[in-house]
Amino acid sequence: MKKKIGVIRGDCSSREIVEQTLRVLDAIAKKYDHEWEYEPIAMGGDAIDQYGSPLPDHELKKALSCDAVLLGAVGGPKWEGLPGPQRPEKGLLALRKGMGLFSNLRPAKIWPQLADASPLKKEITDRGIDFVIVRELTGGVYFGEHTTTTENGVKKALDLMPYDENEIRRIGRVGFETAMKRRKKLTLVDKANVLDTSRLWREVLYDLSKEYPEVEFDVMFVDNCAMQICKNPAQFDTIVTENMFGDILSDEASEITGSIGMIPSSSLGEGTRGLYEPIHGSAPDIAGKNLVNPLACILSAAMMLRYSFGMEEEAADIEKGVEAVLNDGLRTADMMSEGMRQVGTCEMTDALLEKLA
Ligand code: IPM
Ligand code: MG
Repeated sequence: MKKKIGVIRGDCSSREIVEQTLRVLDAIAKKYDHEWEYEPIAMGGDAIDQYGSPLPDHELKKALSCDAVLLGAVGGPKWEGLPGPQRPEKGLLALRKGMGLFSNLRPAKIWPQLADASPLKKEITDRGIDFVIVRELTGGVYFGEHTTTTENGVKKALDLMPYDENEIRRIGRVGFETAMKRRKKLTLVDKANVLDTSRLWREVLYDLSKEYPEVEFDVMFVDNCAMQICKNPAQFDTIVTENMFGDILSDEASEITGSIGMIPSSSLGEGTRGLYEPIHGSAPDIAGKNLVNPLACILSAAMMLRYSFGMEEEAADIEKGVEAVLNDGLRTADMMSEGMRQVGTCEMTDALLEKLA
């Protein structure tokens, strides 16, 4: 198969992990006789430096011409002082919106090999952690009106959190469909004791649940969910939630699995064109030191092969390779624990490529 892949090298240590991920994609192309055309796309700090904007129109257009887009991460201290609309993160939001990617899947699965790196007690991790957060990605407070004003000499800021029932229904459906492919349990996480938007989410999802009688559907307040993720993560199968709650809970969920450096994500809309990125940030403090964990980005590429290209075997090959290098005791610094062998970004990829060969 021939596919066009948009490649956003991103900022700071993102450049290293994307570089390593392309080595893995090249190996897959060779092994399975595929052909990738890489389309470099500038976004984030990199685009600000080149064009003065975090996502110029011509770069979004390039993304829309691809079959899928691979991204590392954007942002860094260099661009921290910029006003909101000019920040690197704004480029990412504009890309998600521009590509129509309303559904973000973030798996939280403990690799048994990394259980020692989890901050949770062994008796909790022993019960297993295997759930997925379905995060709404193009609505809510991220995309509502943002204003900062001064009234009578007092500074005031406002961020609105709008949702309409159609936006909720389409992501709710992804939640139910995802649960159907898993253990058939869906939890809506919200703040319905306070927020009108949350009450609307409940109304729409209870209604949808009638179409999915096989799915055990329940609701949970977000504050309680944050606690339950630490206390009893085994209870969760599929979580569906609005944009900002999903952002926060997915960081927490990744940490309990051992390392945020291991969690990939996929963002999709109505079609198969998706954006694939690790959920971690650009880790400026370790950039250029061959320290960053490339596996979340590599696993994101595996998700791309599976969800955008329908290449199940190729995706599973990468995932098995990752498992094998972990079994060999190789660890990057973020997931290092006693008795393991610490390796750098490149060495981790070298080892994985050996497994794929
Ligand atoms: C994420 C990140 C982004 C988000 C930032 C970089 C805008 O935290 O993908 O989780 O909040 O969505
Ligand atoms: Mg986040």
